Amino acid sequence: DWKMDSFVENNVEALKKRIGSGKVLCALSGGVDSSVLAAMLAKAIGKQLTCVFVDHGLLRKNEKEEVCAVFGPGNANGFDINFICVDARDRYFAKLAGVAEPERKRKIIGEEFIRVFEEQAKQIGKVDFLAQGTIYPDVVESGLGGESTVIKSHHNVGGLPDTVDFKELVEPLRNLFKDEVRQAGRELGLPEYLVSRQPFPGPGLGIRIIGEVTPEKVAIVQDADAIWREEIAKAGLDKEISQYYAALTNMHSVGVMGDERTYDYAVALRAVTTTDFMTAESYNMPWDVLGTVTSRIVNEVKHVNRVFYDCTGKPPATIELE
Ligand code: XMP
Repeated sequence: DWKMDSFVENNVEALKKRIGSGKVLCALSGGVDSSVLAAMLAKAIGKQLTCVFVDHGLLRKNEKEEVCAVFGPGNANGFDINFICVDARDRYFAKLAGVAEPERKRKIIGEEFIRVFEEQAKQIGKVDFLAQGTIYPDVVESGLGGESTVIKSHHNVGGLPDTVDFKELVEPLRNLFKDEVRQAGRELGLPEYLVSRQPFPGPGLGIRIIGEVTPEKVAIVQDADAIWREEIAKAGLDKEISQYYAALTNMHSVGVMGDERTYDYAVALRAVTTTDFMTAESYNMPWDVLGTVTSRIVNEVKHVNRVFYDCTGKPPATIELE
């Protein structure tokens, strides 16, 4: 697509000009927008860019490894940047211990992100630019999850601390729609699993575990979710479904395993189709896919003895469970 080619080229040139020999700081979440932003800046200014990626312990299985493979030292894309991966897992788990209320969980996760990012920024010192992956739908405040700011306190890397010391904001994706951002990502050589990623909320698995979040529960939901994603891809349905994930309900129920009675967790599977994420429909999932996933989850993931499929649309449900 010549238009995108020139978009990337023109923007890389424009960024070079604007940034000059300045230093740029970027919070990288591994989502589509921040990844394309980081790739574009990497191409334009290389080592003048520092990307901070925070592992809050609430990422999906292999997510950290995937981001490090693309942007970290020795990456296959030739991105020569300063890449900082902060292991903040213990901090988050400590803060989240004993907290069950959804809005409090969201607040804690959002605030802790700001704290971690501030600490990193302080170590880096004054930067000239702070880069943000704002895209057009964010600007007009519609589109992806825009409405739920009212219902749920939203958190993503767009909401950065105002205490970070920088001169100017740089937002090269401001005029792009989501599909244009993805196309730009492809032009920049980002892997398909990154550019075609489904939305993942800022608070991560923290809002896909109903009630208190613990490392053990995160491990369960990560494993169940990885199986769900793998089987959906195998069935060739990943392009048809807008968003899908496994969540951990806070419910224990009785089951049987051999001669033993079990009392274990129930996993909820969700898959929705939507055009704007403001309303959504539960996906009409083939029974054989559900059957395969269910038996894999109860067999492969410890402490799960029951699997539910969420048939609810939005409204009245939301896409996420919290
Ligand atoms: P809900 O659950 O409100 O979700 O129907 C609508 C869309 O927004 C995503 N979502 C978030 N995205 N930060 C984000 O960046 C958040 O805090 C957040 N909460 C929900 C959700 O995954 C869905 O795509």
